[in-house]
Amino acid sequence: MNIPSRVRLIDVGPRDGLQNEKQPVPAATKIELVHRLQAAGLREIEVTSYVSPKWVPQMADNHEVMGGIARQAGVAYSVLTPNLKGFEAAVLDQPDEIVVFGSASEAFSQKNINCSIAESIERFAPVVEAALAAGIRVRGAMSCTVGCPYEGDIAPERVAYLAGLLKGIGVQRVDVADTIGVGTPRKVQKALQATLQHFGIDAVSGHFHDTYGQALSNTLAALELGVWNFQSSVAGLGGCPYAKGATGNVATEDVVYMLQGMGIETGIDLDKLIDAGAYISDYLGRRSGSRVAVAVLTKRNN
Ligand code: HMG
Ligand code: MG
Repeated sequence: MNIPSRVRLIDVGPRDGLQNEKQPVPAATKIELVHRLQAAGLREIEVTSYVSPKWVPQMADNHEVMGGIARQAGVAYSVLTPNLKGFEAAVLDQPDEIVVFGSASEAFSQKNINCSIAESIERFAPVVEAALAAGIRVRGAMSCTVGCPYEGDIAPERVAYLAGLLKGIGVQRVDVADTIGVGTPRKVQKALQATLQHFGIDAVSGHFHDTYGQALSNTLAALELGVWNFQSSVAGLGGCPYAKGATGNVATEDVVYMLQGMGIETGIDLDKLIDAGAYISDYLGRRSGSRVAVAVLTKRNN
């Protein structure tokens, strides 16, 4: 066991968290959420995506949101770009990192980005090239690395195949996503190990949705392999519009509480993070998806 002493969290709440919300969330609320996350100590925030507004209407205010953030030194702001059109729109807002997003499953690739895995790589290649030429970092998200809503179980070999393709076009680091939260610790470790055939440990992050309540266990399983980068969503917001029934990412508050309890450094102030989660949960009129936040808020009110 080589459990890391430090973990870096990317909060994907403003993007993965909010993209699935039916009611439009005003840009000002998204901006305030980002401000609260950075005030809580988050050093990486996935802010928005430059995708078709017909496909994901909630992200149509990408320019307004990116333009409205009072950027803090030392914080990296990332955005999703599925193709050159998205990249050309994103670059105007000067993101620190762009994310191309592919899938280990053919069926999910078709549903999510309307093309095959091979076609997606052809689309991503010029995006990666343009980003690197502009001095923008490049991350690759890999969906359905454990299971797919359309194809069922996904073999680790298919994860390794996708990771190899992304590495081949110059992607610098990758997210191993359990999009529909069906993974369990050993399966998630296999997906991570398949990815580690192509990327070093510092370039691999865990992105676990919590649909089946396994995300914290899966995070611990990833830590056991030495993985120290994770994506999580404040208040456990979210889900993917093209993965029906999938709930949000593991709640950032729950991950931070677990890591603090294990003596692992995150640089995050849990109380301020809980306030950020309460802010967006109150706006949405919903109880937080974070067990830790609910427990702490209940205690505060007593
Ligand atoms: P398409 O229909 O195949 O694209 O969609 P197209 O090139 O044929 O263009 C069709 C129309 O879309 C045209 O407009 C284009 O201009 C426009 P029209 O002439 O009809 O008015 N268009 C765009 N508009 C804005 N921004 C763009 C863009 N590209 C084309 N970038 C496309 C292909 C990829 C655009 C579409 O499928 C799409 O937008 N998909 C988005 C899917 C998405 O955002 N999913 C959620 C994020 S992924 C996720 O959540 C998983 C993750 O969290 C990891 C995990 O958990 O698994 C990352
Ligand atoms: Mg996701």
